[in-house]
Amino acid sequence: MNSSNTAPVKKLLAVLDGERFDRPPVWIMRQAGRYLPEYREVRTKAKNFIEFCYSPDLATEVTLQPIRRFGFDAAILFSDILVVPDALGLPVHFVENEGPKLQPLDPARNFSELHGEVDLDRLGPVFEAIRRIKSSLPKETTFLGFCGAPWTVASYMIAGKGTPELAPSRVLAYRNPLYVQQLIDRLVDASIAYLNKQAEAGVDAIQIFESFAGALTGLDIGKFSIDPIARIIKGVRKTYPNMKFIVFGRGSGGNHTRYAQETGANAVGLDWAVDPKWAAKTVQPLLPVQGNLDPLAVVAGGESLDRHTDAILEAFSGGGHIFNFGHGIVPETPIENVERVLKRIRG
Ligand code: CP3
Repeated sequence: MNSSNTAPVKKLLAVLDGERFDRPPVWIMRQAGRYLPEYREVRTKAKNFIEFCYSPDLATEVTLQPIRRFGFDAAILFSDILVVPDALGLPVHFVENEGPKLQPLDPARNFSELHGEVDLDRLGPVFEAIRRIKSSLPKETTFLGFCGAPWTVASYMIAGKGTPELAPSRVLAYRNPLYVQQLIDRLVDASIAYLNKQAEAGVDAIQIFESFAGALTGLDIGKFSIDPIARIIKGVRKTYPNMKFIVFGRGSGGNHTRYAQETGANAVGLDWAVDPKWAAKTVQPLLPVQGNLDPLAVVAGGESLDRHTDAILEAFSGGGHIFNFGHGIVPETPIENVERVLKRIRG
Protein backbone atom coordinates (compact mmCIF):
# COMPACT_ATOMS: atom_id res chain seq x y z
CA MET A 1 0.00 0.00 0.00
CA ASN A 2 1.21 3.47 -0.82
CA SER A 3 -0.07 6.07 1.53
CA SER A 4 0.99 9.30 -0.16
CA ASN A 5 -2.42 10.91 0.34
CA THR A 6 -2.88 9.79 3.93
CA ALA A 7 0.63 10.58 5.12
CA PRO A 8 1.00 9.23 8.65
CA VAL A 9 2.69 11.37 11.25
CA LYS A 10 5.67 9.09 11.83
CA LYS A 11 6.77 7.41 8.62
CA LEU A 12 9.28 5.04 10.17
CA LEU A 13 6.82 3.84 12.78
CA ALA A 14 4.31 3.27 9.98
CA VAL A 15 6.78 0.91 8.24
CA LEU A 16 7.10 -1.03 11.49
CA ASP A 17 3.30 -1.25 11.37
CA GLY A 18 3.36 -2.81 7.91
CA GLU A 19 3.11 0.18 5.54
CA ARG A 20 5.41 0.76 2.61
CA PHE A 21 6.42 3.95 0.84
CA ASP A 22 7.86 4.78 -2.57
CA ARG A 23 10.41 6.90 -0.72
CA PRO A 24 11.48 4.93 2.34
CA PRO A 25 12.09 6.60 5.69
CA VAL A 26 15.78 7.01 6.49
CA TRP A 27 18.12 7.30 9.46
CA ILE A 28 21.75 6.31 10.00
CA MET A 29 23.31 4.18 12.70
CA ARG A 30 25.72 6.37 14.74
CA GLN A 31 24.14 9.44 13.15
CA ALA A 32 25.21 11.49 16.17
CA GLY A 33 28.94 11.12 15.84
CA ARG A 34 32.37 12.43 15.02
CA TYR A 35 31.70 13.07 11.30
CA LEU A 36 29.66 16.10 12.48
CA PRO A 37 31.60 19.24 13.52
CA GLU A 38 28.78 20.22 15.91
CA TYR A 39 29.13 16.81 17.63
CA ARG A 40 32.89 17.18 17.98
CA GLU A 41 32.35 20.55 19.60
CA VAL A 42 29.91 19.22 22.22
CA ARG A 43 32.17 16.21 22.79
CA THR A 44 34.93 18.47 24.13
CA LYS A 45 32.60 19.63 26.92
CA ALA A 46 32.37 16.18 28.52
CA LYS A 47 35.08 14.86 30.80
CA ASN A 48 34.93 11.44 29.15
CA PHE A 49 32.60 9.43 26.98
CA ILE A 50 30.67 7.70 29.76
CA GLU A 51 30.02 11.06 31.49
CA PHE A 52 28.85 12.31 28.10
CA CYS A 53 26.31 9.47 28.00
CA TYR A 54 25.14 10.38 31.55
CA SER A 55 24.74 14.09 30.83
CA PRO A 56 21.10 14.77 29.86
CA ASP A 57 21.99 18.22 28.44
CA LEU A 58 24.76 16.99 26.16
CA ALA A 59 23.00 13.75 25.19
CA THR A 60 19.86 15.67 24.26
CA GLU A 61 21.81 18.18 22.19
CA VAL A 62 23.74 15.61 20.13
CA THR A 63 20.65 13.42 19.60
CA LEU A 64 18.90 16.42 18.03
CA GLN A 65 21.87 17.62 15.92
CA PRO A 66 21.47 15.18 13.00
CA ILE A 67 17.70 15.77 13.00
CA ARG A 68 18.21 19.51 12.61
CA ARG A 69 20.86 19.12 9.95
CA PHE A 70 19.39 16.31 7.84
CA GLY A 71 15.74 15.90 8.92
CA PHE A 72 16.11 12.15 9.40
CA ASP A 73 12.91 10.15 9.95
CA ALA A 74 14.24 8.79 13.24
CA ALA A 75 16.25 10.12 16.14
CA ILE A 76 18.18 7.54 18.11
CA LEU A 77 18.88 8.19 21.76
CA PHE A 78 22.50 9.17 22.28
CA SER A 79 23.96 6.66 24.72
CA ASP A 80 25.94 3.45 24.43
CA ILE A 81 25.21 -0.26 24.78
CA LEU A 82 27.86 -0.45 27.51
CA VAL A 83 25.92 1.64 30.05
CA VAL A 84 24.20 -1.65 30.97
CA PRO A 85 27.38 -3.41 32.21
CA ASP A 86 28.30 -0.11 33.86
CA ALA A 87 24.98 -0.12 35.76
CA LEU A 88 25.47 -3.79 36.61
CA GLY A 89 28.65 -2.95 38.49
CA LEU A 90 31.41 -3.22 35.86
CA PRO A 91 32.64 0.35 35.34
CA VAL A 92 33.27 1.21 31.69
CA HIS A 93 36.01 3.55 30.43
CA PHE A 94 36.56 4.73 26.88
CA VAL A 95 40.21 5.04 25.96
CA GLU A 96 40.87 7.53 23.17
CA ASN A 97 41.59 5.72 19.86
CA GLU A 98 41.23 2.32 21.54
CA GLY A 99 37.56 2.08 22.46
CA PRO A 100 35.78 0.73 25.51
CA LYS A 101 37.57 -0.95 28.42
CA LEU A 102 36.08 -2.78 31.41
CA GLN A 103 37.36 -5.19 34.04
CA PRO A 104 36.84 -8.63 32.45
CA LEU A 105 34.51 -10.98 34.33
CA ASP A 106 36.21 -13.88 36.06
CA PRO A 107 34.12 -17.08 35.86
CA ALA A 108 35.74 -18.32 39.09
CA ARG A 109 34.04 -15.46 40.95
CA ASN A 110 30.58 -16.68 40.00
CA PHE A 111 29.26 -13.15 39.21
CA SER A 112 30.27 -11.67 42.58
CA GLU A 113 31.55 -8.66 40.57
CA LEU A 114 27.99 -7.80 39.54
CA HIS A 115 24.98 -6.30 41.30
CA GLY A 116 22.01 -8.64 41.55
CA GLU A 117 20.00 -6.20 39.46
CA VAL A 118 20.74 -3.37 37.08
CA ASP A 119 21.06 -0.05 38.97
CA LEU A 120 18.32 2.01 37.34
CA ASP A 121 19.30 5.07 39.41
CA ARG A 122 22.71 5.08 37.73
CA LEU A 123 20.81 5.16 34.41
CA GLY A 124 18.51 7.97 35.58
CA PRO A 125 20.24 10.60 33.39
CA VAL A 126 19.50 8.47 30.32
CA PHE A 127 15.77 8.51 31.09
CA GLU A 128 15.93 12.25 31.76
CA ALA A 129 17.57 12.73 28.33
CA ILE A 130 14.74 10.70 26.74
CA ARG A 131 12.09 12.95 28.31
CA ARG A 132 13.87 16.08 27.08
CA ILE A 133 14.47 14.74 23.57
CA LYS A 134 10.87 13.60 23.35
CA SER A 135 9.59 17.10 24.07
CA SER A 136 11.88 18.69 21.42
CA LEU A 137 11.47 16.32 18.47
CA PRO A 138 9.40 17.18 15.40
CA LYS A 139 6.09 15.27 15.41
CA GLU A 140 7.00 13.26 12.32
CA THR A 141 10.29 11.98 13.80
CA THR A 142 10.23 8.47 15.25
CA PHE A 143 12.19 8.28 18.49
CA LEU A 144 14.28 5.14 18.87
CA GLY A 145 15.58 3.75 22.13
CA PHE A 146 18.03 0.87 22.08
CA CYS A 147 20.11 -1.69 23.91
CA GLY A 148 22.80 -4.16 22.97
CA ALA A 149 21.72 -7.78 22.65
CA PRO A 150 22.94 -9.98 25.52
CA TRP A 151 25.57 -11.88 23.50
CA THR A 152 27.15 -8.65 22.20
CA VAL A 153 27.18 -6.99 25.64
CA ALA A 154 28.38 -10.23 27.29
CA SER A 155 31.29 -10.36 24.85
CA TYR A 156 32.55 -7.00 26.11
CA MET A 157 32.10 -8.13 29.72
CA ILE A 158 34.04 -11.34 29.08
CA ALA A 159 36.92 -9.83 27.09
CA GLY A 160 36.95 -6.45 28.85
CA LYS A 161 37.30 -4.75 25.46
CA GLY A 162 36.42 -5.09 21.80
CA THR A 163 38.19 -8.03 20.13
CA PRO A 164 38.23 -8.54 16.35
CA GLU A 165 36.98 -12.12 16.26
CA LEU A 166 35.58 -12.40 19.77
CA ALA A 167 38.02 -15.17 20.66
CA PRO A 168 37.59 -14.83 24.48
CA SER A 169 33.80 -15.14 24.47
CA ARG A 170 33.77 -17.88 21.82
CA VAL A 171 36.26 -19.98 23.77
CA LEU A 172 34.32 -19.45 26.99
CA ALA A 173 31.01 -20.31 25.28
CA TYR A 174 32.50 -23.68 24.24
CA ARG A 175 34.33 -24.32 27.52
CA ASN A 176 31.75 -23.10 29.99
CA PRO A 177 28.41 -22.68 28.21
CA LEU A 178 26.51 -22.68 31.50
CA TYR A 179 28.40 -19.59 32.72
CA VAL A 180 27.79 -17.76 29.44
CA GLN A 181 24.12 -18.75 29.55
CA GLN A 182 23.80 -17.43 33.12
CA LEU A 183 25.45 -14.15 32.12
CA ILE A 184 23.08 -13.85 29.18
CA ASP A 185 20.11 -14.54 31.49
CA ARG A 186 21.23 -11.69 33.76
CA LEU A 187 21.51 -9.42 30.73
CA VAL A 188 18.03 -10.40 29.53
CA ASP A 189 16.58 -9.28 32.87
CA ALA A 190 18.69 -6.11 32.94
CA SER A 191 17.71 -5.23 29.37
CA ILE A 192 13.99 -5.68 30.05
CA ALA A 193 14.21 -3.40 33.11
CA TYR A 194 16.25 -0.83 31.16
CA LEU A 195 14.01 -0.85 28.08
CA ASN A 196 10.83 -0.64 30.18
CA LYS A 197 12.20 2.60 31.63
CA GLN A 198 13.07 3.86 28.15
CA ALA A 199 9.50 3.09 27.06
CA GLU A 200 8.08 4.82 30.12
CA ALA A 201 10.22 7.91 29.37
CA GLY A 202 8.86 8.09 25.84
CA VAL A 203 10.67 6.19 23.05
CA ASP A 204 8.44 5.12 20.12
CA ALA A 205 10.36 2.00 19.13
CA ILE A 206 13.51 0.11 20.07
CA GLN A 207 16.49 -1.22 18.15
CA ILE A 208 18.38 -4.19 19.56
CA PHE A 209 22.02 -4.26 18.40
CA GLU A 210 23.43 -7.76 18.03
CA SER A 211 26.64 -6.42 16.54
CA PHE A 212 28.48 -9.71 17.01
CA ALA A 213 25.89 -12.13 15.63
CA GLY A 214 28.48 -13.12 13.03
CA ALA A 215 30.70 -14.67 15.71
CA LEU A 216 28.16 -17.38 16.57
CA THR A 217 27.87 -20.76 14.87
CA GLY A 218 24.59 -22.05 13.50
CA LEU A 219 24.36 -24.31 16.52
CA ASP A 220 24.71 -21.52 19.10
CA ILE A 221 22.97 -18.58 17.49
CA GLY A 222 19.59 -19.85 18.70
CA LYS A 223 20.40 -20.15 22.39
CA PHE A 224 22.87 -17.27 22.73
CA SER A 225 21.27 -14.70 20.45
CA ILE A 226 17.82 -15.40 19.02
CA ASP A 227 16.20 -16.83 22.14
CA PRO A 228 17.51 -14.10 24.52
CA ILE A 229 16.37 -11.36 22.12
CA ALA A 230 12.94 -13.02 21.88
CA ARG A 231 12.75 -13.07 25.70
CA ILE A 232 13.61 -9.36 25.89
CA ILE A 233 10.95 -8.43 23.35
CA LYS A 234 8.34 -10.58 25.08
CA GLY A 235 9.37 -9.18 28.45
CA VAL A 236 8.98 -5.54 27.39
CA ARG A 237 5.65 -6.28 25.70
CA LYS A 238 4.27 -7.59 28.99
CA THR A 239 4.18 -3.94 30.08
CA TYR A 240 4.18 -2.24 26.65
CA PRO A 241 2.21 -4.61 24.38
CA ASN A 242 2.47 -2.34 21.32
CA MET A 243 6.20 -1.62 21.50
CA LYS A 244 7.90 -2.04 18.12
CA PHE A 245 11.36 -3.58 17.70
CA ILE A 246 14.07 -3.57 15.05
CA VAL A 247 16.59 -6.39 15.47
CA PHE A 248 20.02 -5.91 13.89
CA GLY A 249 21.98 -9.16 13.80
CA ARG A 250 25.16 -7.94 12.17
CA GLY A 251 26.98 -10.55 10.13
CA SER A 252 24.37 -13.23 10.69
CA GLY A 253 24.12 -14.14 6.99
CA GLY A 254 21.28 -16.55 6.24
CA ASN A 255 20.18 -16.32 9.87
CA HIS A 256 18.61 -12.91 9.19
CA THR A 257 15.51 -14.98 8.35
CA ARG A 258 15.58 -16.50 11.84
CA TYR A 259 15.76 -13.05 13.45
CA ALA A 260 12.69 -12.19 11.37
CA GLN A 261 10.73 -15.30 12.30
CA GLU A 262 11.76 -16.17 15.83
CA THR A 263 12.34 -12.97 17.83
CA GLY A 264 9.03 -11.13 17.59
CA ALA A 265 10.74 -8.21 15.80
CA ASN A 266 8.80 -5.79 13.57
CA ALA A 267 11.76 -5.25 11.22
CA VAL A 268 15.17 -6.76 10.63
CA GLY A 269 18.32 -4.69 10.23
CA LEU A 270 20.63 -5.94 7.48
CA ASP A 271 24.39 -5.43 7.53
CA TRP A 272 26.21 -4.19 4.44
CA ALA A 273 27.49 -7.65 3.46
CA VAL A 274 23.96 -8.90 2.72
CA ASP A 275 22.99 -8.97 -0.97
CA PRO A 276 19.84 -6.80 -1.19
CA LYS A 277 18.43 -8.94 -4.02
CA TRP A 278 18.75 -12.06 -1.86
CA ALA A 279 17.22 -10.30 1.15
CA ALA A 280 14.33 -8.96 -0.94
CA LYS A 281 13.43 -12.56 -1.82
CA THR A 282 14.04 -14.24 1.52
CA VAL A 283 13.84 -11.75 4.41
CA GLN A 284 11.56 -8.96 3.20
CA PRO A 285 8.57 -11.27 2.55
CA LEU A 286 8.74 -12.09 6.28
CA LEU A 287 9.21 -8.58 7.70
CA PRO A 288 10.20 -5.04 6.68
CA VAL A 289 13.96 -4.69 6.33
CA GLN A 290 16.33 -1.91 7.34
CA GLY A 291 19.58 -1.17 5.57
CA ASN A 292 22.01 -1.70 4.14
CA LEU A 293 24.41 0.71 2.39
CA ASP A 294 28.10 0.07 3.06
CA PRO A 295 29.34 2.97 5.25
CA LEU A 296 32.56 2.96 3.22
CA ALA A 297 30.63 3.58 -0.01
CA VAL A 298 29.57 6.82 1.66
CA VAL A 299 33.18 7.64 2.48
CA ALA A 300 34.04 7.11 -1.19
CA GLY A 301 31.12 9.08 -2.63
CA GLY A 302 30.67 9.80 -6.33
CA GLU A 303 28.80 7.74 -8.88
CA SER A 304 29.65 4.50 -7.16
CA LEU A 305 27.72 5.76 -4.13
CA ASP A 306 24.73 6.58 -6.33
CA ARG A 307 24.84 3.14 -7.92
CA HIS A 308 24.90 1.33 -4.59
CA THR A 309 22.16 3.55 -3.16
CA ASP A 310 19.95 2.93 -6.21
CA ALA A 311 20.52 -0.83 -6.06
CA ILE A 312 19.25 -0.92 -2.48
CA LEU A 313 16.25 1.32 -3.20
CA GLU A 314 15.33 -0.82 -6.19
CA ALA A 315 15.81 -4.20 -4.56
CA PHE A 316 13.59 -3.27 -1.60
CA SER A 317 10.98 -1.26 -3.53
CA GLY A 318 8.43 -4.07 -3.37
CA GLY A 319 8.00 -4.20 0.40
CA GLY A 320 8.61 -2.57 3.76
CA HIS A 321 11.95 -0.78 3.86
CA ILE A 322 13.75 1.64 6.18
CA PHE A 323 16.84 3.04 4.49
CA ASN A 324 19.98 2.92 6.65
CA PHE A 325 23.62 2.06 6.39
CA GLY A 326 24.68 -1.54 6.96
CA HIS A 327 26.67 -0.43 10.03
CA GLY A 328 27.51 2.85 11.76
CA ILE A 329 28.66 5.89 9.84
CA VAL A 330 32.42 6.38 10.25
CA PRO A 331 34.11 9.61 11.41
CA GLU A 332 35.87 10.29 8.11
CA THR A 333 32.61 10.44 6.12
CA PRO A 334 32.27 13.72 4.18
CA ILE A 335 29.00 15.45 5.06
CA GLU A 336 28.30 16.23 1.40
CA ASN A 337 28.22 12.47 0.71
CA VAL A 338 25.52 12.03 3.36
CA GLU A 339 23.58 14.81 1.66
CA ARG A 340 24.09 13.08 -1.67
CA VAL A 341 22.57 9.83 -0.39
CA LEU A 342 19.60 11.65 1.15
CA LYS A 343 18.91 13.50 -2.09
CA ARG A 344 18.95 10.21 -3.98
CA ILE A 345 16.50 8.61 -1.53
CA ARG A 346 14.18 11.57 -1.32
CA GLY A 347 14.22 12.38 -5.04
O1 CP3 B 1 23.62 5.55 16.70
C1 CP3 B 1 23.66 6.58 17.42
O2 CP3 B 1 23.91 7.70 16.98
C2 CP3 B 1 23.29 6.43 18.89
C3 CP3 B 1 24.36 6.29 19.81
C4 CP3 B 1 25.16 5.01 19.86
C5 CP3 B 1 26.54 5.01 20.20
N1 CP3 B 1 26.95 3.71 20.35
C6 CP3 B 1 27.35 6.21 20.43
C7 CP3 B 1 28.81 6.10 20.38
C8 CP3 B 1 24.77 3.68 19.73
C9 CP3 B 1 23.43 3.11 19.29
C10 CP3 B 1 25.90 2.87 20.04
C11 CP3 B 1 25.86 1.39 20.06
C12 CP3 B 1 27.11 0.65 20.26
N2 CP3 B 1 28.16 0.95 21.07
C13 CP3 B 1 27.37 -0.61 19.66
C14 CP3 B 1 26.42 -1.34 18.75
C15 CP3 B 1 26.44 -0.80 17.37
C16 CP3 B 1 27.66 -1.10 16.57
O3 CP3 B 1 28.38 -0.14 16.26
O4 CP3 B 1 27.89 -2.27 16.26
C17 CP3 B 1 28.63 -1.04 20.09
C18 CP3 B 1 29.34 -2.32 19.69
C19 CP3 B 1 29.13 -0.05 21.00
C20 CP3 B 1 30.41 -0.06 21.76
C21 CP3 B 1 31.27 1.10 21.43
N3 CP3 B 1 30.99 2.40 21.75
C22 CP3 B 1 32.50 1.09 20.74
C23 CP3 B 1 33.17 -0.13 20.18
C24 CP3 B 1 32.95 2.42 20.67
C25 CP3 B 1 34.26 2.92 20.15
C26 CP3 B 1 34.25 3.01 18.65
C27 CP3 B 1 34.41 4.43 18.18
O5 CP3 B 1 33.78 4.78 17.19
O6 CP3 B 1 35.20 5.17 18.80
C28 CP3 B 1 31.97 3.23 21.28
C29 CP3 B 1 32.02 4.67 21.42
C30 CP3 B 1 30.89 5.45 20.82
N4 CP3 B 1 29.57 5.17 21.03
C31 CP3 B 1 30.99 6.62 20.01
C32 CP3 B 1 29.69 7.04 19.74
C33 CP3 B 1 29.26 8.24 18.97
C34 CP3 B 1 32.28 7.32 19.62
C35 CP3 B 1 32.89 7.93 20.85
C36 CP3 B 1 33.44 9.32 20.66
O7 CP3 B 1 32.69 10.28 20.39
O8 CP3 B 1 34.65 9.45 20.83
